[in-house]
Amino acid sequence: MTNAKIIDGRALAVELRSEVAQKVAAHDLKPNLAVVLVGNDEASLIYDRNKQKAAQEVGMDCHIYHLEENITEVELLELIDQLNEDVRVNGILVQLPLPKHINTLNILTRISPEKDVDGFNPYNAGLLLNNSPYAVVPATPKGILYMLERVFSDLSGKKAVVIGRSNIVGKPLAALLLNHNCTVTVVHSKTLDTESIVAQADIVIAACGKPKIVTENWIKPGACVIDVGINRINGKICGDVDFDNVQLKAGYITPVPGGVGPMTIAMLLLNTYEAFARQNHFNF
Ligand code: GUN
Repeated sequence: MTNAKIIDGRALAVELRSEVAQKVAAHDLKPNLAVVLVGNDEASLIYDRNKQKAAQEVGMDCHIYHLEENITEVELLELIDQLNEDVRVNGILVQLPLPKHINTLNILTRISPEKDVDGFNPYNAGLLLNNSPYAVVPATPKGILYMLERVFSDLSGKKAVVIGRSNIVGKPLAALLLNHNCTVTVVHSKTLDTESIVAQADIVIAACGKPKIVTENWIKPGACVIDVGINRINGKICGDVDFDNVQLKAGYITPVPGGVGPMTIAMLLLNTYEAFARQNHFNF
């Protein structure tokens, strides 16, 4: 059996980032991204430093507001209000997950929809469900769509199965693929007979956070498999897909690391540029 073609997220992200850098360089003003991080979750700290570095590399300003784990919800809302009102700030991102004592939806709802570069505010989520061109599309789904459009000239009628129903990947991705005329099924931890549903898919997106759960018996020969998972087994990073075996059967596959992850950061930068351009009435 031939091996699947590898979708090189790192290379695609390099291209995208250089496009964003060119757009940024065309203006005297710099886009400014505020990243809010609560507590000391190690993975979140690394993600946010990577986001800041990537933003600075494309010529943006980016400040991380690093807050104590025990900050109250009211205090966090006050910071969001300040950032909403600060005309120098174009984009606001609150790193998730938040500590349990904070109501995440209250926080995300408070971010001004124009500055919501994650697209997690329910207003933007609603625009996405309505297939509005003004929706801010969350970065991971937006990066996945970009990769799929590289593989398929037309997504119309393709059977897509999304594994996982999170607010940050599964749900917005299902809406986005539906907007692109895929036939979309979402499977999750309570789904009966997941394997036989996934086995019918032309496109499989694994976003359930379970290391190597997607094995080759789940995959239709030639299918395109996108792996959103970032898990650690004995310190080694792996995805939700059993890459070594699935790549023998799939037509296309994303690696972990080097697949979806770099695309997410690139699309965050694009969302930040787009927010900046809208706020300044630039064409983009
Ligand atoms: N946590 C995991 N993924 C994301 C993301 O895309 N944005 C934010 N803000 N937090 C996350």
